[in-house]
Amino acid sequence: MDRYAVAGNPVEHSKSPFIHGCFARQTGQALEYTRLLVPLDAFVPAVKAFAAAGAKGCNVTVPFKFEAHAAAACSTERARLAGAANTLRFDAAGWFADNTDGAGLVADVQRNAGFDVAGRDLLLVGAGGAAAGVLGPLLELRPRRVVVANRSVHKAQQLVRAHQPLAERCGAELSAAALDGCGTGYQLVLNATAASLQGDGVPVPASVLARGALAYDMMYGPAAAGFLQWAAAHGATGRDGLGMLVEQAAEAFFVWRGVRPDTTPVLAQLRSASARAS
Ligand code: ATR
Repeated sequence: MDRYAVAGNPVEHSKSPFIHGCFARQTGQALEYTRLLVPLDAFVPAVKAFAAAGAKGCNVTVPFKFEAHAAAACSTERARLAGAANTLRFDAAGWFADNTDGAGLVADVQRNAGFDVAGRDLLLVGAGGAAAGVLGPLLELRPRRVVVANRSVHKAQQLVRAHQPLAERCGAELSAAALDGCGTGYQLVLNATAASLQGDGVPVPASVLARGALAYDMMYGPAAAGFLQWAAAHGATGRDGLGMLVEQAAEAFFVWRGVRPDTTPVLAQLRSASARAS
């Protein structure tokens, strides 16, 4: 049976084994998907050992996405633009790296949430790995304007510089801003910060939300709860990142197996499990 895993630290709460298990049963693919807890200083040796034992690939999660990209023999353009990879395929010629996070977000926002990004004003809050993974795929949907706001403004500027040529090709205005000076009235506000994990509140004022805006947190579960409450309190439609998680997994499944699973029943199962838990 072909073997895959999610490699990270921590990984014990990862939902990826459940999601890929559902995909495998649904598509009739014979594969096993487990968790690989990787020591913080040993990503490459741990994944090499996994590959040497016959595995076919892995997903990569916090904090190894940058290392995964750097260690790969070749990568997709979307992974290069993000400088990070969440999917590795162990090819005979070496590791092939991809980043399916942005495609996952875009599928969830456009298809599942029914929000058309073209021509809209977007605020992307955060400039770490999570933000880097989604900016390129968002620009490709040809929004009118994207502002990247971050606590450390220089990181937002760096991300903007790297994506400026793509923004120009897509006819989108792209700029960087500080959290307290990022403008008002965005139709889509995306939270890609780790602020909630540090016990902090939403790092931007409610004036960033246009009437009826979609307010999207790339996290899910308790980590997204504060943001969703904030969205509801200010008349926005809140959405957590559970759909993005399932969609990025489907895209990774396609990279490995060449088959696209149906994400709808898997997302519905996860949503009802999380409703039961809360
Ligand atoms: P990830 O890979 O999840 O994006 P990361 O690369 O560590 O993780 O990035 C975390 C993001 O959350 C960064 O944009 C960070 O801002 P800084 O670049 O200024 O560090 C942001 N962040 C973390 N804690 C925050 C807080 N309490 N308030 C606002 N932003 C925060």
